[in-house]
Amino acid sequence: MNNFVYQNPTKIIFGKETIGKIGEEIKNHNIKSVLILYGKGSIFKNGVYDKVVDSLKANNIQYIEKGGVKPNPVLSFVRETVRLVKRNNIEAILAVGGGSVIDSAKAIGAGAVYDGDIWDAFEGNVKLSDSLPIFSILTLSATGSEMNGYAVITNETENKKWAFTAGLSSYPKVSVIDPTVQFTLPKEQTVYGAIDVLSHIFELYFDGTPETDLPDELAEGLVRTIIKSVKTLIDKPEDYNARANLAWSATLALNGIIGAGRNYGDWATHSIEHSISAFYDVAHGAGLAVIFPAWMSYNINLINDKLIRLGRNVFSHDINEGSQTIKQLVEFYKSIGAPVKLTDFGIQENDLNKLADNAALQAPLGALRKLERDDIYQIYSIAF
Ligand code: NZQ
Ligand code: ZN
Repeated sequence: MNNFVYQNPTKIIFGKETIGKIGEEIKNHNIKSVLILYGKGSIFKNGVYDKVVDSLKANNIQYIEKGGVKPNPVLSFVRETVRLVKRNNIEAILAVGGGSVIDSAKAIGAGAVYDGDIWDAFEGNVKLSDSLPIFSILTLSATGSEMNGYAVITNETENKKWAFTAGLSSYPKVSVIDPTVQFTLPKEQTVYGAIDVLSHIFELYFDGTPETDLPDELAEGLVRTIIKSVKTLIDKPEDYNARANLAWSATLALNGIIGAGRNYGDWATHSIEHSISAFYDVAHGAGLAVIFPAWMSYNINLINDKLIRLGRNVFSHDINEGSQTIKQLVEFYKSIGAPVKLTDFGIQENDLNKLADNAALQAPLGALRKLERDDIYQIYSIAF
């Protein structure tokens, strides 16, 4: 294991009927006004909005609200909302939604206390360490954004889907995870969310750090739990135990716990996927379902032993080759209705150059091995 420092400042409130606690939590931070940020309206259909507003009112917290965050959230919306927050002297952002809403909240929160344009931080031209406080009510378990400091936003005029962090200030102060609010998720969102979580674990598991027994055991336990939970949820979307197990697995997958002691992940696959969702209307988890097996195949010589270990501990004791694990993974993805080829998104062969050029803007990618443009192109080709 590598040396590490682990610090995670987010307080998690987890379980049934927990949303009503948010007002008091915000009040305890001495905050008197918030922006409620949400997506396209699912929170009105499942009652989450009413619970949030009741809790704020009960604690005398003023609020304004802004809806309309898109899946694969965009920079123009972030910039517009930064102006709104500055105009109204808002003290904190309360994100109510999935990763897209929480990520937008982080960009807005940091943008509101920075004099320049927030995209500077995504380009790496400036390193930010300050933000308005962020709070979140999570409605879709996938990204882990509820307990980490990252945000991914698309600059839609430049087709750049990139990440930034303002360090510890970007971590939500408090995140409420009530798994019952995820009963209303469409099946494909549950599936894509679970694949995103599995992919976070794979990014960490396959980053090439030697001697990571405990982190690997933790990772394999999460993978088994996620597979079991999502299989249950396909037929029983209101199974509380499966929702709760999937939700907590998602948070643990990317809150630093299973990354501690490692090289903190490979992350090439995520960048290669982000170029897909920067151009096409593809859910992040759907893109990962296609790209991760391709990345594994491309790197099989480097990760064969690790693939065998994963396969034996997750799928079957009979696995003797890494390729069998990849095959089992793809079969599992097919069985839960995930796409498995780029053609499933309508992508044509002559689009692969455009995608490779885009992903290569941040090359070299990865930690296990540094991927350059040609490697990236080969991975898209395997996924095609
Ligand atoms: O907009 P609404 O109406 O709320 O509907 C959303 C949206 O259409 C819907 N939804 C959410 N909760 C629901 C619900 N529908 C019914 N019932 C509920 N309880 O689900 C749809 C997708 O939501 P979104 O927030 O886009 O999904 P997700 O949480 O998967 O977030 C994906 C984004 O996060 C980024 C991805 O790249 C993508 O842009 N990521 C963020 C990371 C991070 N911050 O650490 C890491 C990830 O690897 C990832 O890159
Ligand atoms: Zn992800």
